[in-house]
Amino acid sequence: MKALIVYFSKFGNTRRIAQAMAETIKQAGDTRVVSIEQLTAADLEGVDLVVLGSPTHGFTVPEAVRSALAALPAGILAGKSVAAFDTTVRPWPLRLFRAAPKLLRQLSQLGGQPVARPQTFFVRTSSTQGTGERDLLLAGQIDRAQEWAGQILKQMRV
Ligand SMILES: Cc1cc2nc3c(=O)[nH]c(=O)nc-3n(C[C@H](O)[C@H](O)[C@H](O)COP(=O)(O)O)c2cc1C
Repeated sequence: MKALIVYFSKFGNTRRIAQAMAETIKQAGDTRVVSIEQLTAADLEGVDLVVLGSPTHGFTVPEAVRSALAALPAGILAGKSVAAFDTTVRPWPLRLFRAAPKLLRQLSQLGGQPVARPQTFFVRTSSTQGTGERDLLLAGQIDRAQEWAGQILKQMRV
């Protein structure tokens, strides 16, 4: 099994979830973590599982993620299992105002086969100010990420 975890992260929290998932998934095979800004079509060659994670920005998918996905060739995820997560502030009514369902839909439109429902990991503030690393994850999110990764592997029967 070969897995690729792709993330976008402004303050480092979505990247930490991606890395935590990789710790679990790598027990089942070759696992790479790559930022979406660096993703190329070649990274997807021979990959069985693609997980995409992004913060929710403005109640939806950040523009950087949208444009990177739009640049990928049609059908590039055909035959691959896919899953998507976001990091979002807890109080928002989740179904409507988070990125993950839209991310998963976009992965499906590229041909991917969903193996899990969209997942949200929680941050403590929606502050949009500043740059640089900022630890915003609520307690327990790293454990949740590893649990979810385990469920994905189970679903894939690896
Ligand atoms: C421009 C911008 C817009 C944001 N909009 C939302 C939002 O609509 N809903 C929400 O829950 N959080 C929002 N946030 C907070 C992000 O979800 C939070 O910064 C992110 O989960 C942290 O992940 P990161 O460290 O990987 O960037 C926004 C953050 C930024 C920078």
